[in-house]
Amino acid sequence: MAPPPDDDAPAPAPTRRACILTAGGDAPGLNAVLRAFVKRATSLGLEVFGSQDGFDGLVRPGRMVRLDNDSVRGILMRGGSILGCSNRANPFSYPVRTATGEELCDKSDEVVERIASFEIDVLVVVGGDGTMHMGKGLADKGIRVIGVPKTIDNDLAATDSTFGFDSAVHVATWAIDNLHATAEAHDRVQIVELMGRYAGWITLHAGIAGGADVILIPEIPYEIERVVQKIHDRGTHDESFTIIAVSEGAAPAGGGTAEIAAAKPGHLARLGGAGQRLADALKDKCDHEIRVTVLGHLQRGGSPSAFDRLLGSRFGARAAELCSEGASNRMVSLRNGSVTDVPLADVVGKMRRVDPSGELVRVARSLGVEMGTGST
Ligand code: F6P
Repeated sequence: MAPPPDDDAPAPAPTRRACILTAGGDAPGLNAVLRAFVKRATSLGLEVFGSQDGFDGLVRPGRMVRLDNDSVRGILMRGGSILGCSNRANPFSYPVRTATGEELCDKSDEVVERIASFEIDVLVVVGGDGTMHMGKGLADKGIRVIGVPKTIDNDLAATDSTFGFDSAVHVATWAIDNLHATAEAHDRVQIVELMGRYAGWITLHAGIAGGADVILIPEIPYEIERVVQKIHDRGTHDESFTIIAVSEGAAPAGGGTAEIAAAKPGHLARLGGAGQRLADALKDKCDHEIRVTVLGHLQRGGSPSAFDRLLGSRFGARAAELCSEGASNRMVSLRNGSVTDVPLADVVGKMRRVDPSGELVRVARSLGVEMGTGST
């Protein structure tokens, strides 16, 4: 049973000032969140600051801006973020140039001081798992933090969806549609490498929506012979084509992910090369010409889909309400179609990945899609 209210306890100080930042990689819908947050927060009587380039604005001086209804006018349909993003500005592992190169320094106490110096009552962090991790770290130092789940990868726990994912799937599906025509015209094997880091959501959704013949995701290590067999089953090199959607984080059984740059403390590895590695492995095993398309950051750019504008608006408005209500250390979340909020601790470090025996994988297999291993 909840304890009775203590009449002598001081009432919590009212929230007057909020600061919002967009951290990590950008995702379509960030501006929708900013717009909704500023509009709703302002209507609730809060003053809003924005930290430029993610946490960078809280580390380096002169990078905090006031946000009001004028600042967010006309941005709903724009990709990117009017505040800028950074996936390097981790306050707990902040890169600082030295005479010999770069050193990673803990700047979190400076961030706490800057938040105090601006008399900010609550910090709103819009980002993915890394951002929520940093937010939780600041919350552990006494800062009130509200999270908003963003990532095209859709790999955050405790929410049914992040904003940005839907737009990325649209772009990836468009790409697969377009690749069909050229692959068919040339009877080629056409590989398309898609983002998503260690989760295969974008590849699985776009692969099914675009009618890919092979879908390779990080959650299901693939056997190259299975892919070869699928190409052969589709016909000879002058009468068939094959579309392969491969996640940047997909790997052959017993192999590791293809990386461009290794991870550093507080910073993830940069993935890339999974498509070319697959092409190299296939080239002596099939007669078809093979081409690789790496869709890359096109999946993050462009105007957000209607779904992401709507979800971003709902998340932004709810985050403002949580700020006004005095909530701390919560993340807004979509659950069964409704926007709610969950403890930050439920999210941090708990990546949501594709279930290899889940419904979507079963649907793909039932449609004859080769998933790299397992039974159809
Ligand atoms: O997390 C979003 C994401 O786009 C991943 O899908 C991808 O691996 C990564 O960011 C790319 O990061 P960067 O913009 O640093 O190349």
